[in-house]
Amino acid sequence: MKQKITVALLSGGTSTERDVSLSGGNQVCRALSSDKYDVRRYDPATDIPRLIEDASSIDVALIILHGTGGEDGTVQGLLDLLKIPYQCSGPMGSAIAMNKLASKRLYLQAGIPVPSHMSFNTGENIDIDCCIERLGLPIVVKPASGGSSIGMSIVRSKDSLRQAFDKAFALDDTILLEEYIAGTEITGAVLGNIDLKTLPLVEIIPEKNHDFFDYEAKYKKGETREICPARISAALTEKARNLAAKAHEALFCKGYSRTDMIVRNEDIYVLETNTIPGMTSESLLPLAAKTAGMNFEELLDRLITLGMEKHHP
Ligand SMILES: Nc1ncnc2c1ncn2[C@@H]1O[C@H](COP(=O)(O)OP(=O)(O)O)[C@@H](O)[C@H]1O
Ligand SMILES: [Mg+2]
Repeated sequence: MKQKITVALLSGGTSTERDVSLSGGNQVCRALSSDKYDVRRYDPATDIPRLIEDASSIDVALIILHGTGGEDGTVQGLLDLLKIPYQCSGPMGSAIAMNKLASKRLYLQAGIPVPSHMSFNTGENIDIDCCIERLGLPIVVKPASGGSSIGMSIVRSKDSLRQAFDKAFALDDTILLEEYIAGTEITGAVLGNIDLKTLPLVEIIPEKNHDFFDYEAKYKKGETREICPARISAALTEKARNLAAKAHEALFCKGYSRTDMIVRNEDIYVLETNTIPGMTSESLLPLAAKTAGMNFEELLDRLITLGMEKHHP
């Protein structure tokens, strides 16, 4: 009889997205077939020493962590040192994608359209009139390395800008100001190591009480409508799926990723790429996979296979 695969399931951690990670980890744990996998759970907040001790008996890790100390390449680097394969991008791709400013530079170099933007570091003098002149109003203010919309604001009046800067600077030394793109929000997932497959696009419609796809809209049941495949033309669909694959490659991603975009008329703007897309029941990647005929369990099988292939070709 074939031996079971020992999976280290990493969730929790110390970032602002700890709760989301734990909830994703619980759902992943329930979905992993006990016939195929021997699952061991580790919370990086407390269990790194145990993970190091167990390393030689682990076949593959599933990193279900978001934000700093999980999605930013640090855990990926540790697993590389321990020679444990995992399902997502390596230290470089993870670190780049975590930083929205670094990502934008690589997107632009690859010809991927992004919203007009400006960036500032802590202590820098910000000329508000100049920002409004360049980006107009509303302006989107976000920490460069944020996630789950935490620390983000959509600012509609000049008076509220300073407050939005402070909120973003509380989380990061670098902040981004972006032109607000009013349009249809979509997200495009990509699966694969060398041969990239794009999944059907998901259209995201936050309920009216949400100004944008904010934290609550992302994680509270019923706060957002997700429609898959997205109701955009075939030509725009093809363009967006190609952009998702192009973004994945431009940021040196591996295994899988999910790129957030906004469609305005015939133009598509890329916002960011997630190297560890959410894995809760509300999440977008599982929905995209389901529309492509792959249930949650099969998606996890695929991610585990991709992770093991990537490190042991
Ligand atoms: N330039 C923008 N124009 C319009 N809406 C935006 C813009 N940037 C972000 N948003 C809204 O904020 C949400 C979160 O922004 P995003 O850049 O994807 O960061 P993250 O998901 O990492 O917090 C998006 O899903 C979208 O609803
Ligand atoms: Mg996003």
